Amino acid sequence: MRAIDITAPGGPEVLEWREVPDPRPEQGEVVIEVTAAGVNRADVHQRRGFYDPPPGAPPYPGLEVSGVVAEVGDGVEGFRPGDEVCALLAGGGYAERVAVPWQQLMPVPDGVSPVRAAALPEVACTVWSNVFMLARLRRGETLLVHGGASGIGTFAVQLAKALGSRVVTTVGSAEKARRLTELGADEVVNYREEDFADRLSADVILDIIGAKYLAQNIRALNTGGRMVTIGLQGGAKAELDLGALLTKRASIHGTTLRARPVDEKGAIVRSVVDNVWPLVSAGALRPVVYAEVPMAEAAEAHRMLDSGEHIGKILLVR
Ligand SMILES: NC(=O)c1ccc[n+]([C@@H]2O[C@H](COP(=O)([O-])OP(=O)(O)OC[C@H]3O[C@@H](n4cnc5c(N)ncnc54)[C@H](OP(=O)(O)O)[C@@H]3O)[C@@H](O)[C@H]2O)c1
Repeated sequence: MRAIDITAPGGPEVLEWREVPDPRPEQGEVVIEVTAAGVNRADVHQRRGFYDPPPGAPPYPGLEVSGVVAEVGDGVEGFRPGDEVCALLAGGGYAERVAVPWQQLMPVPDGVSPVRAAALPEVACTVWSNVFMLARLRRGETLLVHGGASGIGTFAVQLAKALGSRVVTTVGSAEKARRLTELGADEVVNYREEDFADRLSADVILDIIGAKYLAQNIRALNTGGRMVTIGLQGGAKAELDLGALLTKRASIHGTTLRARPVDEKGAIVRSVVDNVWPLVSAGALRPVVYAEVPMAEAAEAHRMLDSGEHIGKILLVR
């Protein structure tokens, strides 16, 4: 098969579409013939040499795909060759074929095209597991989503609105602010123009910035607030005022999805299919797709992501 290989750590130009060995289904795995793959910020970190795949994962980038089940290994439950699926991966999505544990497969929600289904697994599993399973956002509470225009952000805003929360978000341009309002955000702050903590407060914060926003995030948390940090775009180390945290009876969590064991990913995937897919099928939320780029031109997709102008997801299509 062909896959996007990272020939050396570096810029988008190190991504090369070339012949590589075919994957074989191990015990409990299926091989998917890939229709499309989602591009994630993590793929850029991997390309630059800062985020190696976990042990046993394919070396090629790509944390999610849509496609058709081509082969089924021993011990697989509930999936057969020919099934249309999308899947959460530990790596290897930028390829014609990828092997994945059956627990990480999901059906394509009704009303979503086979290509656009590739925009869903990583954002749905990340947002559902952090905002709802871990931080337990409740109807009527306020969620603050940093980077509302990101792949993660566009999904988080829609999901929390669909489940009855108030949603506030930060973005870096007027155009992004306009789109986020269209997607349902109740309040949008352009972080380049004002300090979000002067205006916004929240019961749950989904944070992708880390150190740079720590003090402001704690200031913005309501009493009993929960913050989950899933990205460190603004650094990993900062001073924490524990006094402020305990006065507010607040908590801070940090998580990653990629390195979790298969049974934990499987539990998240099942919960997403049960709780999120019906909302997607009903049209209450939709994948926001900024661009579809031929998979062989993954370097172009990474240039787009690096520019930061995108709103929503960039997909690689076969
Ligand atoms: N831990 C996990 O399991 C997990 C899983 C998935 C994703 N993530 C993380 O989630 C984040 C989003 O991922 P993605 O793939 O959706 O990325 P993405 O589409 O590339 O989005 C990154 C976003 O960050 C925004 N941003 C940059 N500086 C900002 C600031 N100071 N304040 C607010 N927003 C800012 C950018 O928008 P502006 O132009 O508006 O600045 C951009 O929309 C990444 O940090 C990624 O590593 C973590």
